Amino acid sequence: MRILAIETSCDETAAAVIEDGTKIISNVVASSSIFHNKTGGIIPEVAAREQVRCIVPVIKETMKQCGNVTMNSIDALAVTIGPGLNGSLLIGVETAKTISLITGKPIIPVNHIFAHLYANWLYSPLSTTHHPLPTFPAIALVVSGGHTELFLMKNHKDIKWLGGTLDDAAGEAFDKTARLLGFGSKGGAAIQQAAKKSSLIKLPRPLINDQSLNFSFSGLKTAILREWNKRKDPSLVSAFAYEVQEAITDVLVAKTKHAAEKFSAKSILISGGVAANLRLREKLPQAIAPPIHLCTDNAAYIASYAYFRGEPTDWHEVTAIPDLSVEV
Ligand code: KG4
Ligand code: ZN
Repeated sequence: MRILAIETSCDETAAAVIEDGTKIISNVVASSSIFHNKTGGIIPEVAAREQVRCIVPVIKETMKQCGNVTMNSIDALAVTIGPGLNGSLLIGVETAKTISLITGKPIIPVNHIFAHLYANWLYSPLSTTHHPLPTFPAIALVVSGGHTELFLMKNHKDIKWLGGTLDDAAGEAFDKTARLLGFGSKGGAAIQQAAKKSSLIKLPRPLINDQSLNFSFSGLKTAILREWNKRKDPSLVSAFAYEVQEAITDVLVAKTKHAAEKFSAKSILISGGVAANLRLREKLPQAIAPPIHLCTDNAAYIASYAYFRGEPTDWHEVTAIPDLSVEV
């Protein structure tokens, strides 16, 4: 079964064709992050306009890269309906509905946060290294720009939300620190690059010993701001980057291990943009993690989710839901 998926929840415009939920036939991502770097944060209106500009070329390019797989041999469409920015989501949703109306193909609405998990089921036929497939029950951590969530996956149809952040997401803590230290808008990767081992800065590890499976990163953000304002010393940027990365990853690892023990998990999955972080991967070597380029937003995992978990829905009923919940 081949699914053409569309993802436009934030500032990436993405489309992909995936076979049987796992095999990547084509996967195209255009990002408008360069515009947001200039303003120090994502302006929803700008992101939505870029979605309008990119959506048709991205879908055309996706189909072009499919070789001899044509629209006729696509079995279904999948589209992110939320959570995300309303203006951005609408572009993908309305485009998918239009294609469904014209071609008569079924359409599968997708929750972006659950879908991140499914990057762990994808493989490229061109790749020589394949990571092991997850086994159930699995503990799954989604760490993206706006979400930090822990799930128990008993099987594809039974996914239970265990806990999440009470305030800021891990990605937000990375991004806010990055802005403070003078890096761009989605600065997690820049923090990783700048980090150099140092014991000069000490930051808290919020809720690390708390028995719940919730997270809190806003206190960490305040502590960073306080420490930085005390010193404002450019020679300490790499020490700050190191310690903030240590603090965030220490908490993520402790909570994920705690959940895995509690539920006797057979595998641990990490996903979402922050799962690209090499220090996190180093501290959690037992976790299955997607290739780096499949951690950040793309449409390949949207198609995979649709294959394993999605329900075809009448296109009249498919609608963008910016605050779509992850708690099930
Ligand atoms: O999943 P994603 O692409 O978008 C959302 O759905 O939010 O995640 C983006 C987040 C940003 O906060 C970005 O700074 C973070 O992922 N990120 C990283 C790394 N690469 C991306 N954080 C830490 N280390 C990285 N290497
Ligand atoms: Zn995402």
